[in-house]
Amino acid sequence: MNEIKIFAPATIANISCGFDVLGCCLESVGDEMIVRKTQDKGIKITKIIGEELPMDIHKNVAGVAALALLRKYSKNLDFGFEIEIYKNIKPGSGIGSSAASAAGVVFALNELLNKPFSKLELVEFARKGEELACGYPIADNVAPAIYGGFTLVKNTDPLRIVELPLLDNLYTTIIHPQIEIKTADARAILPNKIKLGDAVKQWANVGSLVHALHTKDYNLFADSLTDHIVEPYRSKLIPKFEKVKKSALKAGALGGGISGSGPSIFTFSKGNQIAEYVADTIKSIYQKTNFDFNIYISKINPEGIKIISIH
Ligand code: HSE
Repeated sequence: MNEIKIFAPATIANISCGFDVLGCCLESVGDEMIVRKTQDKGIKITKIIGEELPMDIHKNVAGVAALALLRKYSKNLDFGFEIEIYKNIKPGSGIGSSAASAAGVVFALNELLNKPFSKLELVEFARKGEELACGYPIADNVAPAIYGGFTLVKNTDPLRIVELPLLDNLYTTIIHPQIEIKTADARAILPNKIKLGDAVKQWANVGSLVHALHTKDYNLFADSLTDHIVEPYRSKLIPKFEKVKKSALKAGALGGGISGSGPSIFTFSKGNQIAEYVADTIKSIYQKTNFDFNIYISKINPEGIKIISIH
């Protein structure tokens, strides 16, 4: 095995009530990466297509995550690696752009090294990339990218990830307004203290959302998609947030919220047809504004990162 090409999926972090802990993985939105062994030792990023990002491995999230993995690899390597990154996920979009690069590269290296590391260890390496991107080693995007489906970050130190079951026919419609919100800025506006009453509502929702996934209860799932703590602060940064959310619900969506730290807004729907209808509804709202935007519709991806080719 000398070369691997992978699909590194976009992800939704937070999922309304689950700030910093809940995430899920997308099927049809993501980057591609090629990692190949080289005679020269060390790691090099040789190509980044689609976005202007640093090629220096110490300044690039994929480079930092790759270094974290290689530092823990116990055997001596008499070869190195080169990385090509084909970006489709815009940095600062809120759908896990940095996570896709960080998770993608550690997954690819692990395959080329004959899988010495567990998924949990890969998340640990990948979140070093997240730390470079936003100042915090958050795992709620890299975990679903690596595990697929829905994940819960049960603990950050020591890291523990819980894989949650998936609702079979769940689709997401995401609108990405073309404004950039940096995760570090979106975190800086959050309060240090929250009201006990809000916390009570929030953890009740997290519990019921997890229960809804286990029991395949779409109504309870929909009823749990409320964020009493973070959304009131961050939604002010996103044009037409309330209108998009209300109209999506009216169009049949189960619920929605801010994807990651924004500006993307996600909604969930039961089935592709409703997800398409929600997309049309949201589109018509944004077409009346001066903001450029992208709309994505995707099934939830049960598998995470996918191998496109390996040889
Ligand atoms: N949980 C993180 C945040 C995700 O909302 O700040 C960032 O994508």
